[in-house]
Amino acid sequence: MLTGGSPDVVVIGAGPIGLATAWRCAERGMRVTVHDPDPGSGAADVAAGMLAPVSEAHFGERALTRLLVASAAGWPDFAARLTERTGLDLGYRTEGTLSVAVTADDLAEAERLWAYQRELGLPITPLRPAELRDREPLLATRLRGGAYAPGDHQVDPRRLVAALRVAVAAAGATVLPRPVGSLDEMTAAGARVVVAAGCGTAQLTGLPVRPVKGQVLRLRAPGGAAPGFRHVINGYVDGRDVYLVPRHDGEVVVGATVEERGDLDVTASGVLELLRAATDLLPELGEYHLVEARAGRRPGTPDNAPLIGPLPGRPEVLVAGGHYRHGIVLTPLTADLVADLLVTGVPDPLLAPFAPDRFGPPNPGRSGRAGIGPDRVGPGGRPDTE
Ligand code: GLY
Repeated sequence: MLTGGSPDVVVIGAGPIGLATAWRCAERGMRVTVHDPDPGSGAADVAAGMLAPVSEAHFGERALTRLLVASAAGWPDFAARLTERTGLDLGYRTEGTLSVAVTADDLAEAERLWAYQRELGLPITPLRPAELRDREPLLATRLRGGAYAPGDHQVDPRRLVAALRVAVAAAGATVLPRPVGSLDEMTAAGARVVVAAGCGTAQLTGLPVRPVKGQVLRLRAPGGAAPGFRHVINGYVDGRDVYLVPRHDGEVVVGATVEERGDLDVTASGVLELLRAATDLLPELGEYHLVEARAGRRPGTPDNAPLIGPLPGRPEVLVAGGHYRHGIVLTPLTADLVADLLVTGVPDPLLAPFAPDRFGPPNPGRSGRAGIGPDRVGPGGRPDTE
């Protein structure tokens, strides 16, 4: 540890991963400051909060699936500890996820994935249409089949960030709502630096992180009622993918488009696509109030798996970025592994496939600006956090 008032660790980015890392480090006795000009305003402010290692297990991503499964296994303890420290409800729910296919083509595609997920030993059980409707009576009658993933849970990312901010402060760490300087500025006082800056990671580190836009809607059940369904619904709807995430407070998150671009415009066709797929699955949603339409940027890497470990050529800088669609589920494990790495200097073997040097040396000219509006990202700007 350093002496005097300077921090041992500077975390760049006050999204869930930056905050959780700061919390874990502070609870281990390190002095921590977190820098973010607009804490909590990045991708987590839009995210649905699915903790879905099974439903998100895709062909060709075995190492990532192992990481998702390991992090999801830590979520019950993480959520319990965070609630115990803060007294705050995270909206953590464990009813599980129903995948639902509407047409015969949708079912053919989904069944191939479910078979792969079962081959990996993941808990997913096929269900017939009548069994789906036994679980969720409001599902549309036009369904071909589905599957139940009991271990795929959810949390409310906005509540998560609020709780982490309280936990970080209670553990003695400081969040500085200031513009983020260069890495050199951050390391100048001798602190170790953790870059958890979402899409802003590209410009700070030169690593290949690109923005992948997602449009997301929030509906609300009329009359202050709870939504008429309990499970997260992962839908295959006439070739479109949609997920529906019900909250106890009446909110339903409908997501998300996946667009290889970095603007934050909400488009009529994006909203139409999501609402059409959502109401094809659950017609009742047509009567809900549309209360929010937003877009966020997922931080994607060339293999869409995260970058966790030392920045090539800068061992005093650790990267915890590029979590793409998985920032929320990967929060507990990323935070613990980065805190361990700061203490031991030795990356956990689980991190080997996610080393930041796997795409070659950083490219300092990489601005991360491609497709990003002028108000965003960079020294003096606002990092997109996970
Ligand atoms: N995690 C879901 C999404 O990125 O849309």
